[in-house]
Amino acid sequence: MTETAHSPTVPLDHPRLTPGDTVRAARTFADRMARRRSVRDFSPEPIPHGVLEAAIRAAASAPSGANIQPWRFVVVTSPDRKRRLRAAAEAEEREFYARRAPAEWLDALAPIGTDWRKPFLETAPAVIVVFEVHQGRTAPSRTTSRSPSASPWGC
Ligand SMILES: Cc1cc2nc3c(=O)[nH]c(=O)nc-3n(C[C@H](O)[C@H](O)[C@H](O)COP(=O)(O)O)c2cc1C
Repeated sequence: MTETAHSPTVPLDHPRLTPGDTVRAARTFADRMARRRSVRDFSPEPIPHGVLEAAIRAAASAPSGANIQPWRFVVVTSPDRKRRLRAAAEAEEREFYARRAPAEWLDALAPIGTDWRKPFLETAPAVIVVFEVHQGRTAPSRTTSRSPSASPWGC
């Protein structure tokens, strides 16, 4: 796209690939994605600060409507705060598993073996809490209303 008065654009700095290289790059990316997994057990080893910073920089650059970027990231490392986060999350999860979750959702979760317990919130050396900024106010993205299509589940 060319730059116009109405739609300023930033040129992509990606090199143009040959068709063969494009296919190879796409397959490499698909292979990498195939190795992605949802992780529910974490090492307590400390994370170099630069890793957290880079991870948040990547997450914060996600596209958003009107480029509003309506999020804030808070890194929690204090053992006491992690313990309180875990307690709050587990209280919510107990309620969800015991009362709010539809039966089909519990049936689908059963083979995965997850339940209300979230020990990893204390084991992990850092917990990143994502806050949604909504009309100038911030609220945790984890809300009390949960649905199968929007179910933040920890870490
Ligand atoms: C929107 C969404 C909600 C999810 N909710 C839960 C959940 O409540 N509990 C859980 O243990 N995993 C949850 N997961 C993880 C899925 O169970 C997991 O992605 C799926 O089993 C496939 O495993 P994989 O991510 O390792 O490929 C959720 C994933 C997404 C995308």
